[in-house]
Amino acid sequence: MARYLVTGGAGYVGSHVVLALRDRGDEVVVLDNISTGHRAAVPKGVPIAEVDLADQRQVGEVFAAWHFDAVFHMAALSLVGDSMKRPLHYIRTNVNNSVILAEAAIKAGVKRLVFSSTAAIFGVPRVTPIGENTPAEPVNPYGESKLMVEQALAWADGANGLRTACLRYFNAAGADPLGRAGEDHMPETHLIPRAILGALGRAEPVSIFGTDYDTPDGTPLRDYVHVTDLAAAHLAVLPRLEEGSVAYNIGNGTGYSVKDVLAAIERVSGRPVPHSYGPRREGDPPSLVASSERLRAETGWRPAHDTLDEIVRTAWAWHMAHPEGYAAPMRGAA
Ligand code: UFG
Repeated sequence: MARYLVTGGAGYVGSHVVLALRDRGDEVVVLDNISTGHRAAVPKGVPIAEVDLADQRQVGEVFAAWHFDAVFHMAALSLVGDSMKRPLHYIRTNVNNSVILAEAAIKAGVKRLVFSSTAAIFGVPRVTPIGENTPAEPVNPYGESKLMVEQALAWADGANGLRTACLRYFNAAGADPLGRAGEDHMPETHLIPRAILGALGRAEPVSIFGTDYDTPDGTPLRDYVHVTDLAAAHLAVLPRLEEGSVAYNIGNGTGYSVKDVLAAIERVSGRPVPHSYGPRREGDPPSLVASSERLRAETGWRPAHDTLDEIVRTAWAWHMAHPEGYAAPMRGAA
């Protein structure tokens, strides 16, 4: 049986990666400082090292306590809008912490690291869909910080033999189809959960950030990928690392506008989604749509939940079952 370290395993994507690993019988240790994640998102029986990645000594102790076959590195600050307000904080946290983690992994003899990167490294791409060879020209500090980590890890491959898979997530969305985990940020800024909370009367009506983009309905296009499919991709890339480091874009290849998303929530829930119109949000590109052809061809990965309605359905179900999010008394399932 293999054992894996998942940093950010109490967070949204990380908790779904933990479920995927456990579902196939692997052992998992979560490293998380619980700054944005939730203890309740970690299944019972999975140890949580409550460590901040900035603390090099404590990170070293985690690697001394367990042997890991690979590391999944998801812990990061990840909000585009927030990063525009706190650029240096984003760059310091994401870059510094990733370097500390990679050094600890190398020192402990771990040879494989899967890194949670982002579509935000591409900025405002001139060509759609976005393949791996699209020039990386971030337009916000969040994307810049992730690109800097990608570049640092590439050097560590050559010099230290640390094989890395950089996975550029497009818009992670939805919830575990079995209802064991979901999306719960505080404050919630992501479109789908934010609009659902508005529809449930638990938040103000969602504001549509800009209607004057050069897109079919004037609102930005995003490629929403089900978080369980995203998690599956993490497992699918591991064998590829035997041959060398890799980078993959992960999405479904279809762009949906903000208005499309609100319509899907109305269809799935049968309720109106109250909304207002606001100005553009700084740092938002008009369109981010992935080509995941390389991932498909090289790993056989296929999304199992690739329609917007299915993605929204699982998100809606999780919010209906957990109106308080993880704050409600429900300790980790599975
Ligand atoms: N949006 C609104 N109103 C809201 C929230 C969002 O109109 O209240 C719009 C945004 O302008 C954007 C779209 O909905 O056009 C999606 O916004 P999200 O905040 O849900 O997601 P982002 O596209 O900003 O960012 C997400 C992740 C990033 C990742 C990016 C890659 O948070 O980490 O997807 O596509 F880099």
